Amino acid sequence: MQGKMSLVVASRNKGKTAEIRDLLKDFPILIKNLDDFGPIPEVPEDGDTFDENAYKKAGFAARILGYPALADDSGLVVESLGGRPGVHSARYAGAHATDEERCLKLLEELGDNTNRKAAFECVISIAVPTGAALTYEGRCEGRITTRPEGTNGFGYDPIFYSLEYQKTFAQLTMEEKSRISHRGKALREVVSEFQKVLIWIRQQMPIPEKFDCKR
Ligand code: IMP
Repeated sequence: MQGKMSLVVASRNKGKTAEIRDLLKDFPILIKNLDDFGPIPEVPEDGDTFDENAYKKAGFAARILGYPALADDSGLVVESLGGRPGVHSARYAGAHATDEERCLKLLEELGDNTNRKAAFECVISIAVPTGAALTYEGRCEGRITTRPEGTNGFGYDPIFYSLEYQKTFAQLTMEEKSRISHRGKALREVVSEFQKVLIWIRQQMPIPEKFDCKR
């Protein structure tokens, strides 16, 4: 009998893993994350696009662990800053800055610029050990406020204003945010395609050869 296939979430974030496990609970798949394995090297997220970084993380985990792996990469893209901070969203104000410092730096850089258009983008990559991968994308448009509002969420949520809700992301509940967020959209896309994803993974995965030790 074929056992349940495993999918490794290429992250050590318990919240992210739990969310994905919950979304995929009706499918015959066992969700693991990097904490289920021994120490493995960090992958430098030095790609120029979300796509590249998501694939780097998923591809590396799949190759090194021998299981299909899922990774995401996301960030904030601000139109009048030529798309920055983009892939540098996490390190925009230096490696050790806080979320608050990142928000304030962005507000300062934007100054009184009247073009406040911005979008959160998310790319999810599902890779197999041979290097083949599937890609899913989600995008959410909004505006950068002139000061932080709200205390929920994380990252740039207090300065990202949703036109749908007329509130910042940090003023939304988790459910409200997930309904329209970049990550929510990309994850729902994965879920809606997951039956096909499972077939694709099965086709791509090497079949372990059976042998016995008798001569
Ligand atoms: P990661 O792809 O989850 O590592 O996110 C990269 C960075 O983008 C985070 O450190 C945040 O600064 C920013 N970011 C990504 N998603 C969100 C979000 O939903 N809200 C606010 N900031 C986000």
